[in-house]
Amino acid sequence: MKHIAVFASGTGTNAENLIRHFRKHPHCRVNLVLCNKPGAGVLDRAARLGVKSMVFTRQDLYETGRVLNLLKEHRVDFIVLAGFLWLIPQPVLEAFPGRIINIHPALLPAYGGKGMYGRRVHEAVINNRDKKSGVTVHLVNEEYDAGNILFQEECDVLPGDTPDTLAERVHQLEYEYYPRVVEDWISQQEA
Ligand code: GAR
Repeated sequence: MKHIAVFASGTGTNAENLIRHFRKHPHCRVNLVLCNKPGAGVLDRAARLGVKSMVFTRQDLYETGRVLNLLKEHRVDFIVLAGFLWLIPQPVLEAFPGRIINIHPALLPAYGGKGMYGRRVHEAVINNRDKKSGVTVHLVNEEYDAGNILFQEECDVLPGDTPDTLAERVHQLEYEYYPRVVEDWISQQEA
């Protein structure tokens, strides 16, 4: 069995979708949810679904190595970011070479980089009067939203869209594609 850790900072709807998807999978399971925000919705979701979750601090990630130790203790093979807003530090990147993946709610390289997450991305897309947005799944490296792109899917930006209506359309794409893209990526690593 391959083990997946999901990192999330917020509500965790993608985390839940990933947990549900891999519950039925013969070879992969989400066995750990790691969160940097005490009280985040993702923690309740993980608890309801019977997946272990832990909250960590900046020090745990960037200084003490506690996060890396947790990943080792739980024999994690792959890391999937789902609305996680901090950079992954070098020691974790080195321990998981090519084994960390992220989803971004826009068509990278547009609307990526520090500070571009969640609602802010959708606001920027609408303010620029773009006709298309979408999702990007990419490998994680030492910069925000800059690793190799593995998958993109577009959706329309409709007249009258608000950041919330666009976010909802983009979320639907995320729910539809992210688990499948993660599954394909993992099976390619194993081959
Ligand atoms: C998702 O839309 C994800 O693409 C985005 O945060 C949202 C989390 O929603 N990630 C980023 O913006 C990363 N730069 P969720 O907590 O409901 O899954």
